[in-house]
Amino acid sequence: MSRKVILDVDTGTDDAVAIMFAALHPELDLIAVTTVNGNVPVHHCTDNSLRVLDFIGRRDVPVFEGLARPLVRLDFPTPKSFRRDSAEDMHGTELPIPAPTSVKQETGAVEFLIETLLGTTEPITLVPVGPLSNIAAALALEPRIADAVHEVVIMGGGHHLGNETASAEFNIWADPEAADMVFAAGIERLTLVPLDATHKALVTKADCEAFEALDTPAGTAAARFIGRRVDAYGSGNRVAATAAAPVHDALCTAFLVAPEVIATKPCHVRVETHGTRTLGRTVIDTRTHAREPPNCEVAFDADARLFVRLLSEVFGSPI
Ligand code: RIB
Ligand code: CA
Repeated sequence: MSRKVILDVDTGTDDAVAIMFAALHPELDLIAVTTVNGNVPVHHCTDNSLRVLDFIGRRDVPVFEGLARPLVRLDFPTPKSFRRDSAEDMHGTELPIPAPTSVKQETGAVEFLIETLLGTTEPITLVPVGPLSNIAAALALEPRIADAVHEVVIMGGGHHLGNETASAEFNIWADPEAADMVFAAGIERLTLVPLDATHKALVTKADCEAFEALDTPAGTAAARFIGRRVDAYGSGNRVAATAAAPVHDALCTAFLVAPEVIATKPCHVRVETHGTRTLGRTVIDTRTHAREPPNCEVAFDADARLFVRLLSEVFGSPI
């Protein structure tokens, strides 16, 4: 029995790898993709998501477009830390695969999430890997979805690491009020995969060459997408001595089929929504005597070689 999954994405290169993993893994049933403003404007997230699904032969997976900006702010707190389509941009506006021939659904992402999560008794796992604007909007419109969703696995945040600022990770920083609403919503099965874990699951240039050698659409695309990430990390904020890059979002989808790919601890997590230097920080309480009870499992470690093996197994299998 494959596990029903909805991916909420701001497609980008690592979102694209996560979409391919969820769409192609035999134990997962990717029932939909919802898009949100993040790495690129939401219409590009939608276009990129459609490109990926077309390219791997999964145009049957519907794509629903969501929020074009943060929930309560007019835009990100400050301009992003690098210029789009520059050498430091690990995403680029358009993914380097053909433009889509499929089109997005007429229904909006928030409406789809509410209708689907309230409309079924079957367990659905929601995997937000972009800013949490759609999820918070759905919760604001229909708080019951916090109990209706079976499990939520979020890529975002950081305890010892930030990337957009010294203290905050992009997905959380981009819409801090939305993120705090999600952590406060009382979701029973909530896992957070922050930079502390994703930066321990780096994918190397050699791994990209191995993906290319798989000679499959997904292997070729993964090599291109992750190769761009490795180049961008090499030009700016290098993360390792060797040419490598984190593929943040795909670690969440790998966790769905191999929980041992990350190591988690129960912690209380909320988000700083004020402050200047700390805005968007995930405040993760790791103290043994924490006053507030844990509200999610937080990943602090990851198994990089298992992660790459899982990617290779999925992308190497014939469609
Ligand atoms: O900070 C990494 C996260 O921000 C990833 O989800 C990446 O795709 C961007 O959305
Ligand atoms: Ca993302």
